[in-house]
Amino acid sequence: LVIVLDFGGQYNQLVARRVRECNVYCEIYSYKTDLEKIKAMNPKGIILTGGPNSCYEADSPTYSKELFELGIPVLGLCYGAQLMMHMLGGKVEKADAREYGKTEVIIDKTDSKIFEGVSPKTICWMSHFDYISKVAPGFEITSHTENCPCASAENVAENLYAIQFHPEVLHTQEGTKMLYNFVRNICGCAGDWRMDSFVEDQIKAIREKVGDGKVLCALSGGVDSSVAAVLLSKAIGNQLTCVFVDHGLLRKNEGDEVEAVFGPEGPYELNFIRVNAQERYYSKLKGVTEPEAKRKIIGEEFIRVFEEEAKKIGAVDFLVQGTIYPDVVESGLGGESAVIKSHHNVGGLPDHVDFKEIIEPLRDLFKDEVRKAGLELGIPENLVFRQPFPGPGLGIRIIGEVTADKVRIVQDADAIYREEIAKAGLDREIGQYFAALTNMRSVGVMGDERTYDYAIALRAVNTIDFMTAESAQIPYEVLNKVMSRIINEVRGVNRVMYDLTSKPPGTIEFE
Ligand code: XMP
Repeated sequence: LVIVLDFGGQYNQLVARRVRECNVYCEIYSYKTDLEKIKAMNPKGIILTGGPNSCYEADSPTYSKELFELGIPVLGLCYGAQLMMHMLGGKVEKADAREYGKTEVIIDKTDSKIFEGVSPKTICWMSHFDYISKVAPGFEITSHTENCPCASAENVAENLYAIQFHPEVLHTQEGTKMLYNFVRNICGCAGDWRMDSFVEDQIKAIREKVGDGKVLCALSGGVDSSVAAVLLSKAIGNQLTCVFVDHGLLRKNEGDEVEAVFGPEGPYELNFIRVNAQERYYSKLKGVTEPEAKRKIIGEEFIRVFEEEAKKIGAVDFLVQGTIYPDVVESGLGGESAVIKSHHNVGGLPDHVDFKEIIEPLRDLFKDEVRKAGLELGIPENLVFRQPFPGPGLGIRIIGEVTADKVRIVQDADAIYREEIAKAGLDREIGQYFAALTNMRSVGVMGDERTYDYAIALRAVNTIDFMTAESAQIPYEVLNKVMSRIINEVRGVNRVMYDLTSKPPGTIEFE
């Protein structure tokens, strides 16, 4: 285990992901975590992350100095590096100019273990105002840049390493190598964190925990709940019941696709219940136009439908949740990151389902690890690489009132869009893309006839974390083809527009 001690920087999850890419398991903890707790976890290494503060200011995040005296290798990154120097007797000061962006770093100590296999001059990502003007006693400078006398330093005898730049960011070309050197060579981690062992261990753990108990799972067809369901099915077979609520706001044919995989004709042993609640949802949503009201109705209705099904099944021992690690960190339980978005998973927990305990088998995984686990479990690729789809579904991609006819329009347009994106080979490249139905109707001409129909908006964004995003640059020919197909094939549409807005100020979804 490596511990990533979070000082509130923006790349903290990235640090943890990179460490795991080195096949080393790590967890993120807030800098407020007690030293005794850290010691009790017996980590092989500790990484201090960046953060927005200045370490010499009185109320800035800090840590017990004893952390550096445990003999456990410590790597400080950016703020973490400055804090290490500051606390151990070096000096950190405000620089005249901020060093920001891709920067050439010149390695002074080429035999430093951190830089093993790294080029003597290497491009790194810098982002700092403060700089280390004097290293702490016992430390040696191991690299510098044109503007920064100390880009990294180390005290080998004490196992302490400091790096001013961000090896976790992809712009640091040899950053992963540096982190690998730290966790594998300096900390001596074995590198046995692999998805096949995760899957095996989880199956064993689930069997032990569940015994001959009954388990209930809400299956949405998304990646997380699908992987969780298959994991449980492999562990406990038909002690598992999955309830799949088709709320009529899914993508075209999606309900049937989910049923094909998880239903009785599919390869998995489990009890599958599909609830066709389309009409029920449409009637609840009739006349409702306000986005939050729509979201609320969809979420609450989901809980009600689920509860009704659960009642038929009777008491169960466990309820499965598809929580993944970023959910844990973002809800403020893991690291120091502020609560960034309140969790907009459908609904929340049902109040009236009779269960004793929750099982969250994916709680420790990042999204890409969930996908790897999915592949390891033999789940079809098109399901594993399915793009994110919001819980409220097409309900928030139809601006204004939702009707069955509008659902049909947006489903058909979206299916064409996805088909053409896949044909152009862009489907794994673009972060998220979909068609939405604007509530706008306008005049057009088709054949010799005047039309007065809806406008479809196409959205496509590239993003790392879905908190910021930029519109994707889809080739014009592809957009043109999509436009002409939608207008020709989807009744009720006479205009197609491409949404260029980035996030912020826009959000990815329309409502
Ligand atoms: P926004 O629209 O907030 O979307 O920029 C960011 C990401 O979150 C997804 N999203 C949701 N996912 N339930 C979900 O499970 C929701 O209510 C919800 N709203 C937005 C959205 O698809 C995008 O990936």
